[in-house]
Amino acid sequence: MKKTWWKESVVYQIYPRSFYDSNGDGIGDLGGITEKMDYLKELGIDVIWLSPVYESPNDDNGYDISNYQGIMKEFGTMEDFDRMLDAAHTHGIRIVMDLVVNHTSDEHPWFIESRKSKDNPYRNYYIWKDPKDGDVPNNWGSCFGGSAWKYDETTQMYFLHMFSQKQPDLNWENDTVRSEIFQMMDWWCQKGIDGFRMDVISMISKDQNFPDGQLKKTGYGDYGPYVCNGPRVHEYLQEMNQKVLSKYNLLTVGECAGVTVDEAKKYANLEGSELNMVFQFEHMDLDGGETFKWNEQKICLTDLKATLSKWQNELYGKAWNSLYWCNHDQPRIVSRLGNDSDKYREISAKMLATCLHMMQGTPYIYQGEELGMTNVPFQSLDDFRDIESINAYHEYTQSGQIAPEDMMRYLHYKSRDNARTPMQWNNTANAGFTTGTPWIMVNPNYPKINAKEQVERPDSIFHYYQKLIKLRKAHEIIVYGSYQLLLPDDPNLYVYTRELAEEKLLVICNFTDTRQSFTLPSDCNPDQMHCLIANYPERVPEKQMLLNPYEALVYQTKI
Ligand code: NOJ
Repeated sequence: MKKTWWKESVVYQIYPRSFYDSNGDGIGDLGGITEKMDYLKELGIDVIWLSPVYESPNDDNGYDISNYQGIMKEFGTMEDFDRMLDAAHTHGIRIVMDLVVNHTSDEHPWFIESRKSKDNPYRNYYIWKDPKDGDVPNNWGSCFGGSAWKYDETTQMYFLHMFSQKQPDLNWENDTVRSEIFQMMDWWCQKGIDGFRMDVISMISKDQNFPDGQLKKTGYGDYGPYVCNGPRVHEYLQEMNQKVLSKYNLLTVGECAGVTVDEAKKYANLEGSELNMVFQFEHMDLDGGETFKWNEQKICLTDLKATLSKWQNELYGKAWNSLYWCNHDQPRIVSRLGNDSDKYREISAKMLATCLHMMQGTPYIYQGEELGMTNVPFQSLDDFRDIESINAYHEYTQSGQIAPEDMMRYLHYKSRDNARTPMQWNNTANAGFTTGTPWIMVNPNYPKINAKEQVERPDSIFHYYQKLIKLRKAHEIIVYGSYQLLLPDDPNLYVYTRELAEEKLLVICNFTDTRQSFTLPSDCNPDQMHCLIANYPERVPEKQMLLNPYEALVYQTKI
């Protein structure tokens, strides 16, 4: 397999609004990121993925962009951006920008023009449709609730918005739109950025017949088959690749809602004609259901193993995997797949990290994951800031599908805001995130869970992540080895091996809070096994082992 830097990198995602506030206005900013570069260097990451920092009215915290070439005032200026980029590069860290081009803000000048009249030159930049029988053009529901169509009085037509009403979808069928986007991307590349994380890029090509979708419990139709991995998406990405990406040395990762392994083999093919890798959702959606993600269901370990192993095996040698448990759209993993009690939080966070970081693909760490940050005890709906959570609360409770008290529990468990509270830097007021009033509440557990305490304590989760990153740099097998799942039906243990040439790794993870017995595979000789990392004190392997709660062990051996 061809070796490239982005296969060997570890990426750290920053949600700038919540990372570090350098000017006391309660909102994280670019200056704050620059100040914390030493921390990131110490952790050992190679690349920062920066959630959007562009001008935005913040209907969806920056994922609604009103100027692709300007910086959001709350985050600073373009000079602040340049300083941050320089600081990152000086530290040997690359910067990957979020690219949100499925939609813009309705306050983007293109849309302001587009909605003015049917013959405006920008009209065709967006997707406009006449009413059908006096109603919406089709039954698609938007990802943030309600219809995906909004009626616009001025021209008495509907525009499409797959997300909020303030996020109209761009019309990628229009050559001029594509060329504007490619020019803008080129401008950022010329500035010296190192890649793009492409927001819902699998949704940019819509079936031009706009057919009704299968009706769901919400009363809206399923847009999936007509929007995700649509008819021209690969053509568009190949064009983007030829016109922009291939001219630079970039990391590109597409957020691909609805992606299957077969589609991923196209998006992330190793010939490099489209993107480097995709974010797939299958393992994170295993606990979804009829009411979308709103429930308290636990992910079943055998399902998780089957799903992740499918991705590991089927992409091997054909396309590249990304590895993630967390991002700004997911609740905290230690509260979801681990155990956030005082007793097991640290040990289970380390186990989850081991399980992910020993797999094949490029790992992504989301800010605070390296500290084992947990879900948040929000008191009431007023504490939430996320448009998806707030809309969902109203939609599901008003329609009577979910009782208010149940919905509050589901929000506690699954809301995106769990990941969006301020980074916990130290045990001073507001976790040291700001000297002002934070834009969203700080998790009250910061006196106990914070970066300062963990950087100073050698056996902390922070140092465990640091070690995992170092191991990846020291052992090619972690990056390039093949993957084999053992014990697929075991409901408690996740055990797999990696192989490269004569070398083998055995990864053993106990996902439960009880002791579990484990028998070494018959082809593993305990005398020839060497422990690379463990979340309890390292121990010599034995034919029969009794694993501690949430224990994780990685052994290196010969084939
Ligand atoms: C995916 C992003 O990750 C999410 O935060 C955002 O709300 C939607 N796309 C819309 O841009």
